[in-house]
Amino acid sequence: MRSIKIKCVLCMFGIVFFMSCKKDNNSSSNTSDLYIPSAADVTPIATLAELQQGRDLYINNCGSCHSLHSPDSYTPASWNTIMPNMGPKTNLNYNQLTLVTKYVCRGKQ
Ligand code: HEC
Repeated sequence: MRSIKIKCVLCMFGIVFFMSCKKDNNSSSNTSDLYIPSAADVTPIATLAELQQGRDLYINNCGSCHSLHSPDSYTPASWNTIMPNMGPKTNLNYNQLTLVTKYVCRGKQ
C-alpha cells in the first residue's frame, strides 16, 4: 500500500512539472497578450496599417532572445527608452523600428 502512495505522489509531481514546463514553452511564443490593432487604436501619429505592420515586425523580430513582452507591460515612456537598446539587437531599419515603437506604445508617445 505504502509504495503505491509514494508512486502516486511522484506521479503527481511529474504531472505538475510537465505542466509547468509546457506553460513556459508556450509563453515564449505566446501572442495572446499582443493586442490586435483595430480602428479604436488609431491615433494622430499611428494609422491602422502602421500598427498592424508594427505588430508583425515585433512578433517576427523581438522574440528570439526572450518572450514577447506585452505592450501593456510598459508605459509608452518606458518603451521609448527600451527601444533604442533593443533596436540594435535586431536587423530592423529605422523605419521598421518606428513601426514597432508605434505598436508597443499603442500609437501614443
Ligand atoms: C539579441 C537578443 C535580443 C533581441 C533580438 C531583442 N532583445 Fe529585448 N532584451 C534582450 C536582453 C538580453 C534583455 C535583458 C537585459 C537588458 O535589459 O538589456 C532584454 C530585455 C528586454 C525588455 C525588458 C526591458 C526592461 O527594462 O525590463 C524588453 C521590453 C525588450 N527586451 C523588448 C525587445 C524588443 C521590443 C525587441 C525587438 C525590437 C527586442 N527586445 C529584441 C535581448 C534581446
